[in-house]
Amino acid sequence: MLMTHQPCMRCCALTRLCVLPVCVTCVCYLYLPVYLPVCTCVTCTEVHADDTPAVHAVLRADTPVCVTCVLPVYLPVCTCAEVHADDTPAVHAVLRADTPVCVTCVYLPVLPVLPVSPVCTCVTCAEVHADDTPAVHAVLRADTQRLRLLEEERHLQRLLDSGDDSAAQRLEKVYEELRAIGAAAAEAKARRILAGLGFTPEMQNRATRKFSGGWRMRVSLARALFLEPTLLLLDEPTNHLDLNAVIWLNNYLQGWKKTLLVVSHDQGFLDDVCTDIIHLDSQRLHYYRGNYMTFKKMYQQKQKELMKQFEKQEKKLRDLKAGGKSTKQAEKQTKEALTRKQQKCRRRAPSEAAAEAPELLRRPREYSVRFTFPNPPPLSPPILGLHGVDFGYEGQELLFRNLDFGIDMESRVCIVGPNGVGKSTLLQLLTGALTPLRGQMRRNHRLKVGFFNQQAAEQLRLEETAAEFLQRSFNLAHQDARRCLGRFGLEGHAHTLQIAKLSGGQKARVVFAELACREPDVLILDEPTNNLDIESIDALADAINEYKGAVIVVSHDARLITETGCQLWVVEEQGLSQIDGDFHDYKREVLEALGEVVAARPRE
Ligand SMILES: Nc1ncnc2c1ncn2[C@@H]1O[C@H](COP(=O)(O)OP(=O)(O)O)[C@@H](O)[C@H]1O
Ligand SMILES: [Mg+2]
Repeated sequence: MLMTHQPCMRCCALTRLCVLPVCVTCVCYLYLPVYLPVCTCVTCTEVHADDTPAVHAVLRADTPVCVTCVLPVYLPVCTCAEVHADDTPAVHAVLRADTPVCVTCVYLPVLPVLPVSPVCTCVTCAEVHADDTPAVHAVLRADTQRLRLLEEERHLQRLLDSGDDSAAQRLEKVYEELRAIGAAAAEAKARRILAGLGFTPEMQNRATRKFSGGWRMRVSLARALFLEPTLLLLDEPTNHLDLNAVIWLNNYLQGWKKTLLVVSHDQGFLDDVCTDIIHLDSQRLHYYRGNYMTFKKMYQQKQKELMKQFEKQEKKLRDLKAGGKSTKQAEKQTKEALTRKQQKCRRRAPSEAAAEAPELLRRPREYSVRFTFPNPPPLSPPILGLHGVDFGYEGQELLFRNLDFGIDMESRVCIVGPNGVGKSTLLQLLTGALTPLRGQMRRNHRLKVGFFNQQAAEQLRLEETAAEFLQRSFNLAHQDARRCLGRFGLEGHAHTLQIAKLSGGQKARVVFAELACREPDVLILDEPTNNLDIESIDALADAINEYKGAVIVVSHDARLITETGCQLWVVEEQGLSQIDGDFHDYKREVLEALGEVVAARPRE
C-alpha cells in the first residue's frame, strides 16, 4: 500500500496517509477528486480476518464497493464528468484538478464541517451497466457484503451437508451477520426504492439493457439509496426524474438518517430535505444553518449589510479625496483603518479573526434575473383544444383515446403523470407538431403559441450568435436583441458568442428570449427548469404569474407548480383528468399509492 507524508491543509500536521488523504490529526479530508462516471473504489486498512484465501481477498478488492473491510473515508466529490469548455489548454485543465479547490463543482473542504464519521463506506454510482441483470438484482448486487455472506452461507451449507460439522460455528456467525444487515428484507427494500423511482413491478424484473440511459440512471440512484452509505452525494438527483419520483425521493430523504450532500436547483427539494446550506460564492464556501428558505432570507440580509458597509467605505474614500488626498493615499488610509479594526477583533477572538491583511471591500455582486413575457391582447374562447383525439406512435399502443381537453386565456394548467405516460406527446398534439390519428386539434386562428422544450435548445443554429439569432428571427436591431437576451439573464459577453459555445443553461435562456419575442398568447412549457438555476426558476415563476395569457406546463419542480397556482391535470388511462385538490393532495395521493408514510417535517 502506498504510504506518503503530506502536510494537512487544515492543521498542517504531517500526516501519514495510506493512499487516502485523510488527516489523522484533525480528520480533514485532503483533496481527492474522483471523476464520474467512472466507478472508483476504496482501499482498505487491514484485511478482514476470515476464511478467505489471501489471493481472493486481493481479487475481491476489484469491485465497485469494497466491503471486505472498514473503509477509511474516500469521497468522490468532484463531479466534473465533462471538463468545462473554455480557453484553458487541456494540460492546464488536468493540472488544475490537482488543487484542493475545484471551483466548477462541490469541493472537499466542505466536508470537515459535516458530521461525517471518519469511517464510512462509499460508492460512486454512475449509470448502471446495461446487461441481462434484472433491475432489482442490479440494485441488490450493489450490496456486495450481503452477496459475499450469502455465497459463504451456501458454501458452508454444502460443507455441512457433506458431513463437515466444523462449518456449523461459522455458519451461525454468517446467519448472525445476515440478520444484522437485514438481509431478509433486502429485496423488499430494493423493490420499495425502485417503485418510488417509478419502476412498475414488471419494470423491476426487466433486464437493465432494455432501459434507456435515463432509466438506468434511476437504477443507479436506487443502488445508492439501497446501500445507505454514511455519506450520500447526489448531484442534481431530480433532473432526470418525473414529478411523482421527485415527490417520493423528497419524502424518502426526509427520513434519511445519514449524511447527505446534495447539489440541486429544486428549491422545494432543498427546503424539505436539507438542514444546512453551503453556498459556493466567489470561490469560497459559506455555511448556513437551516433549509433553503432560511438561507435565502439570511443571504439577502447579509447582502444588505455588505452593501451598507461598501457604501460607507465609498463615502469615506470620496471624503478623503475631497479633502485633498490622492486615490492611492485615500485607499491606503482606509486599509489602515480596516487593519486596526481587524487587530482589535483578533484581540477579542483570536481564533476567529482572519490572518491576512484586509482588502478594500468590493461592491457585493448582485445577481438578479427577471423574465418577462409580453401580455397578449384578449382572445375569445375557446382558444386551443383537442377534440375526440386518439393518438399513439406507430406500432405502439394508443397513448390517448377519445381525448377532450381545452384551455382559455385564463388557464394555468400543469400536466402531471409518470415518465412515458404521454405528457410531452400531449403538448405536441396541442402545438400541432403531431397530428391526431382520430379527432382534431382546434385553435383560434389568431393564436400565437410559445413552446419550450429541451430539444428547442438543441435545435438552435450553432454557428450564429444569440444576438444574430434574435435579429434574424424578429428583424430586431442589435441593441434590442441584446436587451432581450439580457432580460433573460444571459450575460453580456455571451450575446456575441457562437451558440455552439454556450452552456445548456445559456441556450435555455436564448430559447426563452426567443419565446418572449414571439409575443405568444399561450405558453406551453415542457420541463423548463432543467437547465435553469434557482434564481431563474424564481424569475420564471414570477413571469408566469405576471403573464396574462394561458400557460400549460409539464414540470417536476414542485415549487414552480405551487408558486404559479397551476391546476393539476393527470394523464392516466389514455385520458386526462383534473385532480381534485391542490399539489399537497396530489403528493399525498402519490405517496399513499406507493404505500409510503407521508413525512411531516415542518418547514423552517
Ligand atoms: N417520436 C416518438 N416515436 C415513438 N415513440 C415515442 C416518440 N416519442 C415518445 N414516444 C413514446 O411514447 C411514450 C410517451 O412519451 P412522452 O410523451 O415523451 O412521455 P412523457 O413526456 O410523459 O414522459 C413513451 O413510451 C415514449 O417512449
Ligand atoms: Mg416528457
